[in-house]
Amino acid sequence: MVPSSVLVVLLPWISLALTAFVPLVDKRFPYAQLPYKVDTDVGLARGEQLGYNICNSTTEGPESLCQTAIINSLDDFCIWAPPTPGQTVGEIEGEMVAWCTKAGHGTRVMPPGTITGVQLTRTPDYVQVVGFMNQTLIDMVAGDEGGEMDPHGADLRGNPIGGVVYTQAFADNGTYTQVVEWHNFNGGNTFCFKACDPSRSNDAELCQHIFDTQGCDFNAPSNARDGVFESCAGDSQAPPGQGVVVPQSSSCSTFASTDIYGGGVTVRLPGATFVPSTTTTTTTATTIASSGATATSTGTRTSSSGSTPSQTQSSGGMRTMTYTRAAAVALMVSALIAAFFL
Ligand SMILES: *[C@@H]1O[C@H](CO)[C@@H](O)[C@H](O)[C@H]1NC(C)=O
Ligand SMILES: *[C@@H]1O[C@H](CO)[C@@H](O)[C@H](O)[C@H]1NC(C)=O
Ligand SMILES: *[C@@H]1O[C@H](CO)[C@@H](O)[C@H](O)[C@H]1NC(C)=O
Repeated sequence: MVPSSVLVVLLPWISLALTAFVPLVDKRFPYAQLPYKVDTDVGLARGEQLGYNICNSTTEGPESLCQTAIINSLDDFCIWAPPTPGQTVGEIEGEMVAWCTKAGHGTRVMPPGTITGVQLTRTPDYVQVVGFMNQTLIDMVAGDEGGEMDPHGADLRGNPIGGVVYTQAFADNGTYTQVVEWHNFNGGNTFCFKACDPSRSNDAELCQHIFDTQGCDFNAPSNARDGVFESCAGDSQAPPGQGVVVPQSSSCSTFASTDIYGGGVTVRLPGATFVPSTTTTTTTATTIASSGATATSTGTRTSSSGSTPSQTQSSGGMRTMTYTRAAAVALMVSALIAAFFL
């Protein structure tokens, strides 16, 4: 028997605590309206958010504590890595900052040679990068087998705390969409970062966050090869935990790392008509047909008029799930308290 007086007294407090605290995964902001810090909670067990979410030319550079990560294309993406050397992913996952392949996002920029091979795939449900790296160049401990960053964590504040992810991949006009569900595994000189399309109902499943000890092969199976830099279309994988089958990739364009990292070449997403706004570059891309045959073609990448892509955002408001989850947590907490008092 649950003493009803206990519940009557405690439930309002529990509800208050739950409504005041908003899990990271339920915080939504248009890219252009990000607050200085997404996580403003104080006095919680893990402390305050280390960095900030408004990132610009002032914050850019080796000291940046930007915690807004971007994943746009093969030449333009970030992963989460430590702000200072000496601690493993497991020790510092709450304080990770954005390290990006190029300047322009107010973040740290990966030193040349960091990425040694990467495959980007754009599927109907997500965009992901999977690859190989020299992890010591982004302040990771040599030999650290690493771990997972995602917008959940035991206290629902995310790893990193307050870390948010945006992409231009889900609109064909340069609009930045906030990626609600994503996961990033770094370690053993490999990385994978998957951003799931919030307009698809399977985003939480495909960017599942519970298999944090399993790594990239399990959570983001791919055809990535060290030494190869390619941008591909692809089929979506089965959700992590429902069988590991490497999904088919197709229409791959391959590049020299020096062209895309520091070389100024911008790579369009497979099938996209949106042209990233950077300088005009002509490069030679090798197109691998899905049959496996290799054909060489010259791809021309022109700049847009130089206008800044509009920075609006599609999804708004909280999901009803939040309330369901809050109610479930409230029930559990009540039951525990009731059990304690009995
Ligand atoms: C640049 O970012 C910093 C840190 O978030 C912020 O304080 C500053 O207001 C920003 N500057 C502009 C012009 O937005
Ligand atoms: C990784 O980078 C470090 C620092 O520059 C360098 O000493 C080391 O040789 C690199 N490792 C490999 C495998 O290239
Ligand atoms: C850009 O495209 C998205 C859908 O892909 C649409 O929701 C949005 O309104 C468009 N924005 C502009 C400024 O055209």
